[in-house]
Amino acid sequence: MEEDNIYDDDISKLPGVGPATAEKLRDSGYVDILSIAVSSPSELADAAEIGESTASKIILNARKQADIGGFETGKTLLEKRAKIGRLTSGSKTFDELLGGGFESQAIIELFGEYGSGKTQIAHQLCVVVQLPEEKGGLNGHAFYIDTENTFRPERIIQMAEAYDLDPDETLSKIHVARAYNSSHQMLLVDKVRELSKEVPARLLVVDSLTAHFRAEYVGRGALADRQQKLNKHMHDLLRWSDLNNGVVCVTNQVAAKPDAFFGDPTRPIGGHIVGHTATFRIYLRKSKGPKRIARLIDSPHLPEGEAVFTITDKGIRD
Ligand code: GTP
Ligand code: MG
Repeated sequence: MEEDNIYDDDISKLPGVGPATAEKLRDSGYVDILSIAVSSPSELADAAEIGESTASKIILNARKQADIGGFETGKTLLEKRAKIGRLTSGSKTFDELLGGGFESQAIIELFGEYGSGKTQIAHQLCVVVQLPEEKGGLNGHAFYIDTENTFRPERIIQMAEAYDLDPDETLSKIHVARAYNSSHQMLLVDKVRELSKEVPARLLVVDSLTAHFRAEYVGRGALADRQQKLNKHMHDLLRWSDLNNGVVCVTNQVAAKPDAFFGDPTRPIGGHIVGHTATFRIYLRKSKGPKRIARLIDSPHLPEGEAVFTITDKGIRD
């Protein structure tokens, strides 16, 4: 029940907010009740083109309805952390870099140039998540939000066979949706949240997290708006990982070499918004042939370091 409330976020249900006002608010980035609850009457009045006294009333109503989050004791948090699961990457050195694998209750951002292996790792995780825990899996299904139409069932079959998994069964536990634009991409996370009540999923992939945002929000004027949307998206993903004790893996393409347009390749788009919300950021780069180098960046509790892995026909390996 409680959980349903958290997501009962339709701002048009707020007393005082009609359809026209709701639309203006959404256009200004007030996409959920909490964002209204924490705003000021003058900001809200500007955004919705309403009077300040009306805005004040709406804010009061939003504060009554918003779930502002609760306090948990340190003991509860410790118990929750004890449940963190780990997914193997398929490569021992890569796993070691991550302190044992891709953690649940976390967002892992893979960033790197084209061909650096982001999509291959995402495919690999969809297979290993189905393995039992003693084999490096989490015994669960996977959701895959595909924005670039690069999900390949044939590749999954190859990887599944390498683990002696039944290919058909493996494919039937991967739920793929194509996202046509950034709004659609964000809506699909709502859908995943709904479906997760029935599907025992432990992995959610968004490949690519940023491509639609980059294409749609162009120029300096659009930057604030883009960051606000990305911020909401990242928090929705984090919430899913928390509620389902799942792994979220997002990808972010960056240019290989620094240049005037893209800047530093180790600073992917989405900048500090994506960076601060992601729990682990892994920078991938190409090496000789099928070899790739993964570098862990800004991890809260692991040392920075690098691991070399290989993209093989069987999937990711040492
Ligand atoms: P963008 O999405 O373009 O930014 O790139 P990415 O980082 O997602 O790259 P991706 O994961 O698609 O890596 C592509 C590389 O994986 C290719 O250059 C191949 O080297 C390798 N690869 C892809 N499929 C196979 C396969 O079936 N077998 C083998 N051995 N390697 C593969
Ligand atoms: Mg890709």
